[in-house]
Amino acid sequence: MLSVDDLSITFGGLTALRGFTVDVAEREILALIGPNGAGKSTVFNIVTGLYRPSSGRVTFRGRDLLALPPHAIARCGIARTFQNTEVFRRLTVLDNVLIGRHTHLSAGALRGALGLPTVAREEAAARDAARALLARLGLEDAAGLEAGSLPLGLQKRLELARALAAEPRLLLLDEPAGGLNPTETQALMEVIVRLRDAHGLTIVLVEHDMELVMGISDRIAVLNDGRKIADGKPREIAAAPVVIEAYLGGEDD
Ligand SMILES: Nc1ncnc2c1ncn2[C@@H]1O[C@H](COP(=O)(O)OP(=O)(O)O)[C@@H](O)[C@H]1O
Ligand SMILES: [Mg+2]
Repeated sequence: MLSVDDLSITFGGLTALRGFTVDVAEREILALIGPNGAGKSTVFNIVTGLYRPSSGRVTFRGRDLLALPPHAIARCGIARTFQNTEVFRRLTVLDNVLIGRHTHLSAGALRGALGLPTVAREEAAARDAARALLARLGLEDAAGLEAGSLPLGLQKRLELARALAAEPRLLLLDEPAGGLNPTETQALMEVIVRLRDAHGLTIVLVEHDMELVMGISDRIAVLNDGRKIADGKPREIAAAPVVIEAYLGGEDD
C-alpha cells in the first residue's frame, strides 16, 4: 500500500535518513522503532509532504506522493498524529474533530460546523459523524469541553479522533503512548487494534513503549542513525543482536 524507497534527507550538515526503505501492506500494523534522533518522525514528515527528501521515492497505492503537496496527500487517504500532541486548545473537543474532517467538507460546511454563519445540510451530517467518532473513542462526554482542559491521555485520544475524521486508509501515529500511564496505554492498544480490525485501516506507528510495540505490531522496522538495521516480526526483532546493540550499546547499564 505504501512504498518508501531509498529515502535520504539532510538538514544542513546532518544526514537524518540514509537510504531508508520500507513497504507497508494493506491492513498491516507496522512499528517504526529506534533511538531518539534515528529519523523516525522524519519518515512521517516526508510521507505527509512536510519535508522533501534529497533522494528516494514514496508511493501510496501506486501514486507518487513526492509530487503532491500535503493537503493533496491527506486527500489520498493518509492522516497522522504528532509526537508533540497538537490539539487546538481553545476550541472544543467536537470542533477539533470537525476540523479533522476538512478534507471532506466544503468551505461553507466547515464554517457552518464551526458555528459561523451559513446554511448547510452537510453541517449537521458532519456534526453527527464527529459525535459518533468521539463516542467510538470514549470521548462523548468531553465533546463540549475546551480541548486544552483535557488530561494528556485524552488529548492524545482526541488527536487520534481528529486524524480519523478525515476517513484515512493509512494512519501514521507518532508516539501515541508518549506520556500515557500503563492503563491508558493498554486502552490505546485496544483502540488501535480495533481500528485495524473493524475499519481495515493500515497503521504505521512510531513508539518507544515496547510492550505496546510487541503487543500489536505485525512487523517492526528498526532505524538507527538514519539507516534501517532490522525489519521483521516482533519475535525476530526482540532477539536480533543488532537491535539489542543499537538500544544498549554505549550505555553503562
Ligand atoms: N526540520 C529539521 N531541521 C533540522 N534538523 C532536523 C529537522 N527535523 C529533524 N531533524 C534532525 O534529524 C534527526 C532525526 O530526527 P527525527 O526524525 O525527529 O528523529 P526521531 O523521531 O527518530 O527521534 C535528528 O538529528 C533531528 O535533530
Ligand atoms: Mg520523533
